[in-house]
Amino acid sequence: MASNAPIGVFDSGLGGISVVREITRQMPNERIIYFGDSANAPYGTKTPEEVRKLSFDIVERFIKIGVKAIVIACNTATSAAVNDLRATYDLPIISMEPALKVACDRGHGKPQRVIVAATPLTLREKKFTALMNRFSATNTIYRQPCPDLVEIVEHDQLEDHDLVMRTLHRYFDGYDLGSIDSVVLGCTHFVFYRDYFRELLPDSTAIIDGNEGTARHLHDLLAASDELAETDAQGGVTLKNSDPSERMAALAAKRLNA
Ligand code: DGL
Repeated sequence: MASNAPIGVFDSGLGGISVVREITRQMPNERIIYFGDSANAPYGTKTPEEVRKLSFDIVERFIKIGVKAIVIACNTATSAAVNDLRATYDLPIISMEPALKVACDRGHGKPQRVIVAATPLTLREKKFTALMNRFSATNTIYRQPCPDLVEIVEHDQLEDHDLVMRTLHRYFDGYDLGSIDSVVLGCTHFVFYRDYFRELLPDSTAIIDGNEGTARHLHDLLAASDELAETDAQGGVTLKNSDPSERMAALAAKRLNA
């Protein structure tokens, strides 16, 4: 039977709003409750134990609200917590990992040179190492932590072109970018930087994120269990944040509607 219960989506802060935008584009009839944990951001420089605890607290809130599914719109929380969350809760939990497979598959057998930009925690966790091991025999993969890109979004500096480009140059000038086939945006905050990455990278370098695939996966899971909202249901997004300030509410709304 169709379900008009909401979907809970969370991230360490504002990054997961880039995922919400894609979910609402693909599934306009769904009600989304977004929780950004900006009071505790960034997650990417914390320990896995800290991120696991914060993730469990957020999922508990969603369970109390009665959501029908949860999207961990955060690669970092996925690395630290998804296995334990799935073992604990009996509802669909959709998670995110850097879209390395998409980047390597683009080569159709030709070895690819790929930079994975993500948080320090994502890149050093077992989950990413296992993913990388699946592709590193035939491709060249570089791990590039970019923690400052999280801070820039959280501090509402995304429109500061000079600051952003300076930061990107600091992280990427050490590479021979002309030889890189793709850059994977392995953190949901980084998806907001797509135009800046386009400015930094040669036209021949693809920019890849996992948002479209994540939203599609959510759709397919809900369709398989017949839990999609009715086609005439009124969809929408409710933005919640652990930082209760008006500044943060305005910033979250700006990221949703930008
Ligand atoms: N947006 C998050 C991710 O996808 C993490 C950002 C952070 O808090 O470090 O990994």
